Amino acid sequence: MSNRLNSTPNDLRAFWMPFTANRQYKKEPRLFVGAKDMHYTTHDGRQVLDGTAGLWCVNAGHCRPLITEAIREQAGELDYAPAFQLGHPKAFELANRLIDIAPDNMAHVLYTNSGSESVETALKVALAYQRVKGQGSRTRLIGRERGYHGVNFGGISVGGIVSNRKMFGTLLTGVDHLPHTHQPAKNAFTKGMPEHGGDLADELERIVTLHDASTIAAVIVEPVSGSTGVLIPPKGYLQRLREICTKHGILLIFDEVITGFGRLGAPFASQYFDVKPDIMVTAKGLTNGVIPMGAVFVTAEIHDAFMTGPDHMIEFFHGYTYSGNPIASAAALGTLDTYRDENLLTRAAEIAPYWEEKLHSLRDCPNVIDIRNLGLIGAIELKPIDGEPTKRAFNAFLNAYNDGLLIRTTGDIIALSPPLIITHEQIDELFDKLRKVLMNNI
Ligand SMILES: Cc1ncc(COP(=O)(O)O)c(C=O)c1O
Repeated sequence: MSNRLNSTPNDLRAFWMPFTANRQYKKEPRLFVGAKDMHYTTHDGRQVLDGTAGLWCVNAGHCRPLITEAIREQAGELDYAPAFQLGHPKAFELANRLIDIAPDNMAHVLYTNSGSESVETALKVALAYQRVKGQGSRTRLIGRERGYHGVNFGGISVGGIVSNRKMFGTLLTGVDHLPHTHQPAKNAFTKGMPEHGGDLADELERIVTLHDASTIAAVIVEPVSGSTGVLIPPKGYLQRLREICTKHGILLIFDEVITGFGRLGAPFASQYFDVKPDIMVTAKGLTNGVIPMGAVFVTAEIHDAFMTGPDHMIEFFHGYTYSGNPIASAAALGTLDTYRDENLLTRAAEIAPYWEEKLHSLRDCPNVIDIRNLGLIGAIELKPIDGEPTKRAFNAFLNAYNDGLLIRTTGDIIALSPPLIITHEQIDELFDKLRKVLMNNI
């Protein structure tokens, strides 16, 4: 523990931190005590430029007035309303506002409290939909290698990150996986969407042939994979997945937890790629990361299939105590107002060319083996240190933090996803700092 923390009442032992090297952290803690717009303030009084929008969620930047004010007001007016068989106005208002900006085939919204819960909700809707349509044999779920769909059992079953899966038994049965699309030998240093790999979508045909379409309920993919280290879909890949799903009556689920709310320069990746899923999973940017909340979007066809039987009967046995919580709803409305007033859902499209140019200018730095980007997302893949995988990127993370820049690493990949309010000057500052880190023998 640092001297400074020793002199405060803080005791760091009780909190078992998530996805954290707890022992390293507690020897050398990194605490944020404040934030405004593009910057965090650390416990030792330094400013840190946010290169990752927190955890891909603070799309409008930090402590934005419309959001904090909406939360403050709502907390004093209606703190909580039961979510089952009762409601409150803002949950309905928010659903309509979300449908207004969603792909035009989306008609209804279910609320959750996180990306992980949104994934579970989407998988359950898909399975139940097939059943209410009289296709109860469609129980298989298809995910993808290197996919990240949160940490709950459904999500890690369809996900494809080994360390997130291997400790937890047999997971859901009846799950199969598409191959991932990362082909560095062919696509390294591609700007935007890679040329090679679109045909990997045809692997879905092989999986259909193996199991038979009548056993498959849904395919779930991230349009752009984030947590596995930023994998941009090859040209034509998502279109092809859509065609194959439609051909075989399989639902297509897009996990838009990181791509939703403007990350690529359109409200959702579905619009950016012009590919319409049947179900869309969101969270993070929905409330600017400020209050936990997720939303799952479904088509009218899916929703309407459940609306049968006596009126007094519950149509779908699923939901959370905090589904559409008033304070979360208010935060989301304040977030949507901020996005609208500042054109943030499309701003990434304007700034992406400059972002791309500056990101790829790091190509000459030592140990950089790939750089990739789309919208306001960037990744720099580093050559692992022999015998010590992940250490080079972790060193870069620590050095960047000490130098006033927040980056995120996964494996030996640096992932960047700044708030959508970033200026050209701040992009310069970010990449100047990162160049220094990479040149410095990490
Ligand atoms: C694509 C995707 N799905 C799901 C999740 C899980 O979200 P949460 O951490 O809010 O449960 C994440 C989180 O990074 C994500 O990137």
